[in-house]
Amino acid sequence: MLEIAAQMQESAAAVRVHTHLAAKVGIVLGTGLGALGKEVKDATRISYSQIPHMGRTSVQSHAGELVAGTLGGTPVFVMEGRLHFYEGHKLADIVFPVRLLKALGCETLILSNAAGGLNPDWELGDIMMLDDHINLPGLAGVSPLLGPNDESMGPRFPDMSAPYDAKLIKQTVAVAKKQKLKLRQGVYVMVTGPNLETRAEYRMLRNLGADVVGMSTVPEVVAARHLGMRVAAFSILTDLCLPDELEEASLDKIIAIAAKAEPKLTKLVTGLVAGL
Ligand code: HPA
Repeated sequence: MLEIAAQMQESAAAVRVHTHLAAKVGIVLGTGLGALGKEVKDATRISYSQIPHMGRTSVQSHAGELVAGTLGGTPVFVMEGRLHFYEGHKLADIVFPVRLLKALGCETLILSNAAGGLNPDWELGDIMMLDDHINLPGLAGVSPLLGPNDESMGPRFPDMSAPYDAKLIKQTVAVAKKQKLKLRQGVYVMVTGPNLETRAEYRMLRNLGADVVGMSTVPEVVAARHLGMRVAAFSILTDLCLPDELEEASLDKIIAIAAKAEPKLTKLVTGLVAGL
């Protein structure tokens, strides 16, 4: 067994000291979406610092805890807190929580993020379900699978023809309809950050075919697909990145918009998870 696979098992064993929960669904929460963790019933909270090989989160709004419990009656592991490439973390550390979820028995991964809206027909606070992504060199273009491949984890050249699970998208669309929630579907492009983009860059990203832009998620999706997990991912449009009417970005505004959309996304994901 190569190093990462051994680390996954070691970390899973450390989690198993605190919980015997059998959960097939894992959730990684992004910026401003931490409230989902509070919805988990019969929760056992395990600090990342108690789990070997888990990098410490450096963004203040991220708690850095693994929450084990049930959501909508379904057993789940929730990762509260994630690492970003722009913080200078290694890709292997960024995707480690996903690999740990797999080692704990999760087969489905749900992710969320805050993103900038590039599609001119969409609105601030909209929720988009990812149906594809763009991850090109020069944008972010970062693969957590660079280097030797561990065949015990997944193939050398994992397929990306459908990174986001069609059945999960269909189920989520049905839940959104029931909840009378407007749900967008589209393409997420990952950039490295942490600087936001120029007007020319937003125009280029839109022309490349992206609906939203953000600084996370893609490495975790790639690692999850490598492990054969099925993936659903959501963006909250926290700022509009329309090149011809661009306003100065404000982190306070981005956090406020994310907080406002949070109950809607929490309800949607809870509804999805309840049916899994
Ligand atoms: N660019 C990149 N990432 C983002 C943005 C953006 O405009 N908004 C929220 N995350």
